Amino acid sequence: MAKVLTALSHSLKEFRLLPGYTPADSTAPKVSLCTRFCRQGDGFLQLYTPFLSAAMQAVTGTEMAIGLAQLGGIGILPVSQTVEEQCAKIDRVKRFKAGFQTNILTLSPQQRIGEVMEIMASTGYSTFPVTQSGNFHDQLIGILTDKDFDSRRDHECTVAERMKTDVQAGVELKDLKEANELMIQYGRGFLPILSKEGVLQAVVFKKDLDKHLLHPNESIDQQKRLLVGAAVSTHPEDQQRVRALVEHEVDVLVVDASDGHTQFQQQMIKWIKANFQVPVVGGNVVTAEGFRFLVEAGADAVKIGMGIGSGCTTSEIKATGRGQGTALMDIAQARDELAGKKGIYIPMIADGGISGPAEMAVALALGADAIMMGNFFARYTESAGNLVRNAAGEVVKEYWMEGSMRARNFRRYAHVKDLLFEEGITGYVPHLGSIYDKFPVVLQILSSTLATAGCRTIEELHQKAVLEMLSPSAMLDSKVHDMVPMNIDQQIL
Ligand code: IMP
Repeated sequence: MAKVLTALSHSLKEFRLLPGYTPADSTAPKVSLCTRFCRQGDGFLQLYTPFLSAAMQAVTGTEMAIGLAQLGGIGILPVSQTVEEQCAKIDRVKRFKAGFQTNILTLSPQQRIGEVMEIMASTGYSTFPVTQSGNFHDQLIGILTDKDFDSRRDHECTVAERMKTDVQAGVELKDLKEANELMIQYGRGFLPILSKEGVLQAVVFKKDLDKHLLHPNESIDQQKRLLVGAAVSTHPEDQQRVRALVEHEVDVLVVDASDGHTQFQQQMIKWIKANFQVPVVGGNVVTAEGFRFLVEAGADAVKIGMGIGSGCTTSEIKATGRGQGTALMDIAQARDELAGKKGIYIPMIADGGISGPAEMAVALALGADAIMMGNFFARYTESAGNLVRNAAGEVVKEYWMEGSMRARNFRRYAHVKDLLFEEGITGYVPHLGSIYDKFPVVLQILSSTLATAGCRTIEELHQKAVLEMLSPSAMLDSKVHDMVPMNIDQQIL
């Protein structure tokens, strides 16, 4: 006979946090939302803010990945695109900014300005070091920028005739702060770093420094480039995809499957771990058994959630899934037991069904280290879905699930090619404006929640949070009632 669990499965909406004591030095501005996103080597890949944008066509493209990384989270590029498209997006995120750059395009003195103009038009770059041979690691002899020539008359001139030769450079500088200070002292937008012999070693751009000063909590790698993740499927042919993504220096791989408790996923994770250093996130699972299975396979973090995505029909049509509150509680216990017994901490990522900061706070308090969202991020200008006008004349963002026919993502939702049914719908979400303007509000609300709960960090929240479930009438009280809000923004954030 089937085993029937008669205890109810609970959603995040059913919980509230009780206030804890808040000392004067633990108010919201003192709260850190820094989190352990996944295991990396002997430690963890940390994020300043605990957010991942979903690996969905409508959500994560280059702009979202850049925007979210600048705000301290990380974007996960979906698997439902060609390997080339996914790799090109990684390149764009990685090239957005850096500290010491060691592989930028370099010119030779004999090149024609006409050719340089073509390079500028195709790459968007406007500043180039000029070396003897045209190779990066060679004697620096000048700098050419788009201000050094007349684009109407100078086509046939050589780079040597137009470049500036009074170059101010740093010598043998290894410290980025020192390099930035020297660049500011020289009043330049660009500082080449040379060896004692005058060979070009690296360059530093002022615009990269400005970007960092604007977003001090950005997620960056060792070379100060933004972090970016990419999804892969469990299909054996995606081993090729993994190789390409690793070559393009992806920071984390996320195995994308609606049900992660499968032999396919086990094989894929084991294969990646046996061949590469890159961290791997497994999922999705909703049971302690599924979690332990993925940890055993080698997952560096595990995504939790089934049947709860905003446009997901899995639970309705297949009757599979679990309330996210219950899934997180069950798995948090298994995760903590594992940490106690073996000293291995595996971060949990709550994926899907989050409609606002209250649910984010509850997910974190129930043990999640990070949160993946599709719908919530799809609302921002930077999401990959189109901005359109709906039938009512409102400006909205298109949002479609990965299991919808529109996404044609048969990889995630079936191991057979001719899948006849959809597991997600296609529709719209309201357009809220730019992630840069709007998301900081969410971060502030979350910090405020932690402060009220008497916690300064997410780790502390895991240990000290006291949650309580709401009765149906307490739930009514917990929302705006007996009043009509003046403007819609107050409802949606
Ligand atoms: P949302 O933030 O509630 O919109 O949920 C996003 C999450 O839903 C994704 O990160 C996926 O885990 C999941 N998801 C994406 N596409 C589908 C689908 O077609 N059916 C069910 N779940 C989906």
